Amino acid sequence: MKTDVFGKLPDGREVHKHTLTNKAGASAEIIDYGAIVVSLRVPDRNGKLDDVVLGYDNVESYMNGTAYFGAIVGRYGNRIGKGKFELDGKEYQLTINDGANHLHGGKVGFSKVLWEAKSAGNSGEPWLELQYVSRDGEEGYPGTVVLKVRYTLTDKNELRLDYEGTTDRPTVLNPTHHSYFNLSGNLSNTILDHQLMIEADGTTPVDSGLIPTGQIASVDNTPFDFRAATAIGARINASNEQLTFGKGYDHNWVLRSGGGHLAKAAELYDPSSGRMMTVFTDQPGLQFYSGNFLDGSAKGKNGVAYQRRTGLCLEAQAFPDTPNKPQFPGITLRQGQTYHQTTIYQFSTR
Ligand code: GLA
Repeated sequence: MKTDVFGKLPDGREVHKHTLTNKAGASAEIIDYGAIVVSLRVPDRNGKLDDVVLGYDNVESYMNGTAYFGAIVGRYGNRIGKGKFELDGKEYQLTINDGANHLHGGKVGFSKVLWEAKSAGNSGEPWLELQYVSRDGEEGYPGTVVLKVRYTLTDKNELRLDYEGTTDRPTVLNPTHHSYFNLSGNLSNTILDHQLMIEADGTTPVDSGLIPTGQIASVDNTPFDFRAATAIGARINASNEQLTFGKGYDHNWVLRSGGGHLAKAAELYDPSSGRMMTVFTDQPGLQFYSGNFLDGSAKGKNGVAYQRRTGLCLEAQAFPDTPNKPQFPGITLRQGQTYHQTTIYQFSTR
């Protein structure tokens, strides 16, 4: 592992960039600001390494950006309706930062803070462990949470994320990873030709503010049926109220595994480069977001302006708005308990 200075925060603190390179030559660059994956270089079917994630080449852009490129988001990934929830009979009001709702942990959350690079391993498969201590009351959440995320770049070309979290008071914890993937390696292409398969028979439909209604809808005969690999662009413009609300795909799929153990969640394939990404997770839900809000205003690495749908996110997590939906798998964390998540993005070719 190699560590360089990536930039400086306005208060003078340095942001470091850590480069993990595996035996196969694949590499991941991760900064301690937001625990962000800045680049991820994996081979195409001819062995050519290309960067397959959207991102910036300077700290200022990450500070000013609104897309959550490559970050760990939290304390709660995705939305909490009206930013309110009740826990043990007490109501909490979180920061409102998305219309009338709370999104991705609030204005600052976990994605716009400096994490601490705690430890790293150089021998064998390279890994980096980052830690963030979120104080009691931050963005309105109760309890001091200590979250550790370990990134490992395995020799099988997997980017593996192991999360571990604790609290000193009852709270909710549901972090996720927000990389925008574009397997073509050309980050000005759209992802509409990418073929996606999701191991799910249902989704959690949303209202116009993207808050789940609480129901689980079957994917049968809908543009949400990705049980067989289908091009993302094939049905994205179909007339469908849920697609209108999301401005495309921006929904949570209810994974067949139910969560609790590591299982395959999705496969993403780019026919042009032959790159395939298989996602494994122990989470019950997968948010598939087709980059609908990208509009060319974000100028990324090498000056590329990221246009609509030039990257897609597959965010493993609990369902959106779980704190207000008792019927969804729970995410309450109490003192003495440990939150765990493992999610793997595995790269291969076909
Ligand atoms: C998530 C949300 C989207 C959007 C993006 C970030 O995927 O579900 O609605 O907020 O993050 O732009």
